[in-house]
Amino acid sequence: MKHGTLTTDNHAALWHGRFKEGPDAAAVEFETSIYVDERMAEDDIKGSLAHAKMLGAQGIISKAECDKIIKGLNSILKDLQSGKLAIDYSAEDIHSFIEATLTDRIGEPGKKIHTGRSRNDQIALDERLYLKRVIPELQAKIVKLIDVLSDIASKHTKTLMPGFTHMQHAQPVTLAQHMCAWAWSLVRDCERLSDAIKRIDYSPLGSGALAGSGLPLNREMVAKELGFKGVTQNSLDSVSDRDYCIEFTSCFSMLQMHLSRFSEEIVLWATTEFGFVDLSEKWSTGSSIMPQKKNPDFAELIRGRTGKVYGQLTSLLTMMKGLPLSYDRDMQEDKEPLFNAFDTVSSCLTVFTYMLESAKWNTKVMEEGCEGGYLNATDVADYLVRKGMPFRTAHGVSAKAVRIAIDNGVKLEDLCMEEFKMCSELIDEDIYDFITPRACVEVRKTTGGPSSEKVKQQITQLKKFVKNCAPKSTEKK
Ligand code: ARG
Repeated sequence: MKHGTLTTDNHAALWHGRFKEGPDAAAVEFETSIYVDERMAEDDIKGSLAHAKMLGAQGIISKAECDKIIKGLNSILKDLQSGKLAIDYSAEDIHSFIEATLTDRIGEPGKKIHTGRSRNDQIALDERLYLKRVIPELQAKIVKLIDVLSDIASKHTKTLMPGFTHMQHAQPVTLAQHMCAWAWSLVRDCERLSDAIKRIDYSPLGSGALAGSGLPLNREMVAKELGFKGVTQNSLDSVSDRDYCIEFTSCFSMLQMHLSRFSEEIVLWATTEFGFVDLSEKWSTGSSIMPQKKNPDFAELIRGRTGKVYGQLTSLLTMMKGLPLSYDRDMQEDKEPLFNAFDTVSSCLTVFTYMLESAKWNTKVMEEGCEGGYLNATDVADYLVRKGMPFRTAHGVSAKAVRIAIDNGVKLEDLCMEEFKMCSELIDEDIYDFITPRACVEVRKTTGGPSSEKVKQQITQLKKFVKNCAPKSTEKK
């Protein structure tokens, strides 16, 4: 690791003037954050551009100085993007690096960029700009997964499968209903992120180190230039608020929890015992010793990485819990957990989507799964309710029929009319049509129910969400 080799005065720590001695190399290495905050270089420059324009417009710096700063910052942005300019990791943080590089390039006017600004309000701004930039990319990935799920659902509105509660056979549903169920949780994840974005849409710049500025800054102008809805309302709060780091990491945790639960199902469904799904060879792994193996490692890794994401949330909450107002250096530790949680959930989303898109659904096995387990017992009760019997009594009658079937080792629909009549005189021949797995599904026409008619309505709504709410992704992938 390169550190502590400050070559020119411009590259010395921004605060070195008060000190007789330079910092110990180990101290520099310990406190640096550039390895983590370098990903906000673009946001830092954009913030500085807006700040410089405002300083110029307010007459705090001259027009000529303002123009030079803007030109300098734009050249840094361009050179960083093209790879012509490399980050100097001996800088304390990304703010120091950009300020030093600016002064290297344009000389004295560069030293005016930090007028009326502190790294305390600068970092709070950078984080907000960064999140506003990357969250729509994450949302685009969520929307893509919802799209894939609704495509699978469209193909399987009639594919029967057993529905479970307590991991026991419960009532028949369809693969479409199951896929839509996960899609709705992802819709909420996407909306939750949009809600959180609304709360960070205020610029903290101009809050200074903690107490604003005595210079005639125009905070509203900076906010407008950067596309914020407005400015934050209290300078102390502006530099000490990290709620957004916690809020977004909490959103990431919930999203990751959904992927983890879904992954658990995929792992189960890929077992020989279930056999509902065949994962593609591209998204499976083998064993170094057992030649026959095809393992669902990607689903397992997604499930496994969930602990990491939750851990980042705990890190952030714990890091903040004892901090008095306003800025404390502890807060530098906010970025690693936030970025790590973001990166983890983002890559898990990509991989999960590929894995699901390329999977094959064993519809025959699913449909056969509806045969055993007395999934239609509720429908025997509902049949009697339709004939006027109180539900509680009907539940008992159906239970009696299940008991007889279990004792004879047969399915409910295998009972003869005589056996049904022993349970209730109200049961007639039409019971057989009423309790086939298909009938059990198709009769469930309540809104949100699994009948093919109702599932199609869900799919239409999900597709509408994909079409309307798909945020514009700037990511090239
Ligand atoms: N690197 C710091 C952070 O990420 C920002 C700089 C504020 N540093 C300071 N010594 N006041 O929070």
